[in-house]
Amino acid sequence: MAKKLFIRTYGCQMNVYDSARMADVLAPLGYGPTDDPADADMVILNTCHIREKASEKTFSEIGRLRLEQARRQAEGDDMIIAVAGCVAQAEGEEIMRRMPEIDIVLGPQTYHRLPEMVARATRARDQRRGANSLRKHKGAGVLDTEFPAESKFDHLPQASEAPGISAFLAIQEGCDKFCTFCVVPYTRGAEFSRPVAQVVAEAKRLAALGARELTLLGQNVNAYHGEGPDGSSWNLARLCRHLAEKVPEILRLRYTTSHPRDMDDDLIAAHGDLPALMPFLHLPVQSGSDRILSEMNRQHTADDYRRLIDKLKTARPDIALSSDFIIGFPGETEAEFEATMKLIEDVTFAQSFSFNYSPRPGTPAAIMAAQVPQDVMNARLKRAQALLEQQLVAFNRATLGLTVPVLLEKRGRDQGQLVGKSPYLQAVHVDAPDHLIGRVADVTITDLGHFTLGGRLAAGPAAEVQPERAIA
Ligand code: SAH
Ligand code: SF4
Ligand code: F3S
Repeated sequence: MAKKLFIRTYGCQMNVYDSARMADVLAPLGYGPTDDPADADMVILNTCHIREKASEKTFSEIGRLRLEQARRQAEGDDMIIAVAGCVAQAEGEEIMRRMPEIDIVLGPQTYHRLPEMVARATRARDQRRGANSLRKHKGAGVLDTEFPAESKFDHLPQASEAPGISAFLAIQEGCDKFCTFCVVPYTRGAEFSRPVAQVVAEAKRLAALGARELTLLGQNVNAYHGEGPDGSSWNLARLCRHLAEKVPEILRLRYTTSHPRDMDDDLIAAHGDLPALMPFLHLPVQSGSDRILSEMNRQHTADDYRRLIDKLKTARPDIALSSDFIIGFPGETEAEFEATMKLIEDVTFAQSFSFNYSPRPGTPAAIMAAQVPQDVMNARLKRAQALLEQQLVAFNRATLGLTVPVLLEKRGRDQGQLVGKSPYLQAVHVDAPDHLIGRVADVTITDLGHFTLGGRLAAGPAAEVQPERAIA
């Protein structure tokens, strides 16, 4: 009988990608997706450890699942609970100890071994049932948070489901930079780049399944240095050019997340002359204060960042930026916070993510003296977010009346309406026929919502649908 799998995903796009891959790995075992945990034979929580709040969500969700599991067991039924992702990697043993009902704990680098883990968990459960043990339920106790020598990417099956018009493709994973606030180098491990041929093969498969836009993923995606077909090491710019040439069905390329230190001249040049590369870049700066940037071990200054933006704008004048900011890093003074505000004013961002600093166990910044009091952080965050919000609204307002190329992705809520994305990842609603899904259409922006724009197809049959590269 078909078994049902429910996956709840927290955290970054890499986790979204990983969840889809876990579903692929389990599909040959007969697991198909369900969106109701109460209906599932197996539940996977794919967790995020980046800030305290993100981790806490895991534990409250596990609590709810254990109740559900107990209810099912009382009915003579069962449910396997697995905890995956970055919290599992960082706190796997602790989770097993504190919550013995959990069957499987696995890290981000071992999910290709899920079939084996599920087999062990199922065996343990059958034995228990055979022994007719109705004592306090205990999980199967399968823990796999190794960083294996083999790459999971060499062991993943092909995608089991169509990825949609816009798809993620992991090309790089892990991080060697060790910013002092960040858990990622500990949860994802050392930097690793997939070989070019493997990336191209996956891109072709995704295109064949209908994808027209790829977002290349990596914790440090522009540090990409995969082995090229010629045996030499290729950088991200070369990979993007190669993908645009070899997989022409892919109309749009994006990549995330980048580090300012790895934004090399090749990549900047590619933004200038590779039409498939979208003019929108997420380039986290974290702070505008050189002292704080140094304490964070970012290894660049605020002016290095400003210069980078100038170079990018010279190469691609219509490029827009998004960024991440950490407010209240240990020791941040009022003047240092003002330096962040100044940088935001100077650069201007189309979109951004800003958070209060959250001490993460095991990272150097967590034990720095002079942690900033919560109320001070809150007040600064509020100011930063108000300015960033103003910039977002102004950026969206500036598109009013413009005609922009929109990649149409799916039907909208209203009859006859499609939803797509502008080059700047703005959602755009437009009345358009279904056959335009998966194509780029010129849309004149007529309405501004807070999160979405509205528009109409630009007039004229020639302008109605054009390939992206002709427009850019
Ligand atoms: N590799 C990316 C960021 C990955 S983490 C880079 O180098 O920029 C995503 C974002 O989470 C970071 O950019 C940072 O702004 C935020 N973040 C990471 N650790 C944090 C912490 N301890 N407290 C608050 N925000 C944090
Ligand atoms: Fe974390 Fe820094 Fe690595 Fe980004 S570069 S993942 S912030 S350690
Ligand atoms: Fe979170 Fe891990 Fe991504 S900590 S942000 S899920 S890399």
